[in-house]
Amino acid sequence: MSLANVTYLPETPAHDPEIDLINEEAFGPGRFSRAAYKIREGGPHERALSFVAMDGGKVIASVRMTRIAAGKGRALMLGPLAVRPTHKNLGIGRKLVAMALDAASKARSPAVILVGDEPYYGPLGFKRIPRGQISMPRPVDLDRLLAHEIVAGAVAKLAGEVCHADQLAVPV
Ligand SMILES: CC(C)(COP(=O)(O)OP(=O)(O)OC[C@H]1O[C@@H](n2cnc3c(N)ncnc32)[C@H](O)[C@@H]1OP(=O)(O)O)[C@@H](O)C(=O)NCCC(=O)NCCS
Repeated sequence: MSLANVTYLPETPAHDPEIDLINEEAFGPGRFSRAAYKIREGGPHERALSFVAMDGGKVIASVRMTRIAAGKGRALMLGPLAVRPTHKNLGIGRKLVAMALDAASKARSPAVILVGDEPYYGPLGFKRIPRGQISMPRPVDLDRLLAHEIVAGAVAKLAGEVCHADQLAVPV
């Protein structure tokens, strides 16, 4: 497999069925019980900030972005990020993360957070969020809570449990 025919596009609803299959392949049925999934259930993701990689007319990788809130802080949450096994280790995951971060910056989002492996995301501009600063609605390894700051001081404003930003408007 090579990068020769791989193209990158903003996500559209037409990509949804293929993205679902890619995420099923990458994360299995356990994906529904993940902390990040629980947050994403709270509202839609941001299609304009989410991207797919295509090869031969098929979606072969996807990254999604979702608006979240934690205390006074606001950010985007990156994920899921998944690349088909046929196309791994070609730099497609890194490229999708870079595109998502660029789009977040252009959309003036203050920060991007995610739950993921620091060895992968560290070189892409993510740092650990100090333990105990934020929590997730389901158990998560706190060392996997990472943030990429766009506006200075934005990550420090994130505090307490992370929820989908739309949940803030829901009357109690
Ligand atoms: C993780 C994933 C998105 C990486 O995508 P990719 O396009 O294959 O990765 P890239 O080509 O951009 O980068 C490959 C490099 O990252 C490394 N890498 C991949 N996954 C890694 C991980 N979890 N931790 C550390 N390094 C990782 C590879 O070893 C490779 O290193 P090298 O460049 O030194 O050879 C892909 O493997 C995948 O879909 N995995 C299953 C789903 C998943 O785990 N998603 C991430 C959720 S946090």
